[in-house]
Order: sequence, then structure tokens, then C-alpha cells
Amino acid sequence: MRTPIIAGNWKMNKTIAETLELVREIRKLLGEAPANVEVVLCPPFTSLWVAKNALGRSRYSLGAQDVYWEPKGAFTGEISPTMLQDLATYVIIGHSERRQYFSETDETVNRKVQAALAHGLKPIMCVGEKLEEYEAGKTTEVVGRQTRGGLAGLTPEQMQNVVIAYEPVWAIGTGKAATGTGANAVVAQAVRGPLAEMFGAEVAQATRVQYGGSVTPANIAEFMAQPDLDGGLVGGASLKAADFVEIVRQTATVKVQT
Ligand code: PGA
Repeated sequence: MRTPIIAGNWKMNKTIAETLELVREIRKLLGEAPANVEVVLCPPFTSLWVAKNALGRSRYSLGAQDVYWEPKGAFTGEISPTMLQDLATYVIIGHSERRQYFSETDETVNRKVQAALAHGLKPIMCVGEKLEEYEAGKTTEVVGRQTRGGLAGLTPEQMQNVVIAYEPVWAIGTGKAATGTGANAVVAQAVRGPLAEMFGAEVAQATRVQYGGSVTPANIAEFMAQPDLDGGLVGGASLKAADFVEIVRQTATVKVQT
């Protein structure tokens, strides 16, 4: 049984005051996070400390949005895994915006994944094809390559702490989500396939894979009804407390039924 995981990727949004407000609103509407769904909030680095204090001993988890691979040193502007250890449980790595605007590659993603795991942080590693790759029928090839490259050198044991987010780039922030069956097919073939080859069938079945890209309260149930999808990485809708809470609630309901 894979526990579904809904993560809110706040991206470069929310000041400290706004973070407190959104955390309070989410908790007011949802109460405690449900027992059968892991709920992760990923605010910007500057808000992690205040969010951590606001969440106290609740079941909510925190995630960072990136991490550098070195533990410390002369890397102006970067944040190390040791700095995040006390602040976050998860860390998003290799989001398509980082690949696109900050030149991240499967190799740098792999270094970050390794460094996160070495310091006890759980990576949410993002994979997904661009529109032109999708249109050229290259989705399986691209997502397979990103999965293999990002996870190269890991052990089956380490995979217990890795979450993968399949996010077609054409679906991110566009309002044009994939279909449930379409996303499920990509995950089954291009994510769980390589996982089985690299780490064995058991790891391929045990690894949690989220869908991301224009997830809303209106479409989350369609994704959660799919056997290979274990939650969502939610951008825009995670900034609206009511929408995010509804996404968590529907995930809890649908995954219990299926
Ligand atoms: P979106 O973003 O939900 O706004 O499409 C998802 C993401 O980038 O993780």
C-alpha cells in the first residue's frame, strides 16, 4: 500500500506574513492532515522556519523547493542539505522550471538527489516532457531518461525515501492538465518501467509517483482514481487554501475507495 502524498509547491510566492496566513487558513479548513494522505507544504526557503513553528507537532510535513549538493562552502546564494535538515522533511528536486530557467540537467538533479538522501531529506524528483517532445511522440523516451538519470547510483533501500512527480511541462500552469489515463500510462511505462529495471519489481511497485500540472479540485479525483498515481504536486491551486484542502479531501476519499 502506497500512502498518497499531496504536496503544495508554492514556488516564488508568499512573504513570511502571507505564509502564516495561508498555513492558518489551511489548518482552519482541514484541521489535522488526514491519516491516510501525507500533506506536504513547500513554501520558499525564507518561510520554512516560520511555517515549521506554525505547524508545530501536527501531521503536516514541510518541503523545500530545491537544494544544493555541497554541505557548505563558497557557493554564494545556495542552500545546503545540512541547512535544510532541521527545517524540512522533503525537498523538490529538478522541477521543470529549474531545468528550464536555471539550466539543471539530469546530472545535477542526480547530485542533488544523492546529497538530499545522504542528509536524511526525502527528494520529490520531478520528471516530465516538454510540449514539443510530447508532440513528437518522445514522452516515454524523455521521461524514462530523466528517471534513470536522476536516480542513477541509488540503492533499492534509498528508494524508500524517494517520491517522483510526473509533471508534463505543457500542463504546468497552463490550465491544460493531462488526462488521468494518459498520465497513468506514462507513469506505468516510463517511470515504473525503468524503476523495475534499475531496482527490481518490488521497488517499482512501492515507489510513490505523483501527478503534477494544473491539478485542481475539479480534476484531482480523475487522477487519484488511477492505479499508478499516488497523489499530486500542486502549484497554483496550493496557494488557495480552499482549493488545496479540497484536493487533499478528495484524495483521501478516492484513494480509500479504490
Ligand atoms: P501548477 O504547477 O499546478 O500550477 O500547474 C504544478 C507544478 O509546477 O508543480
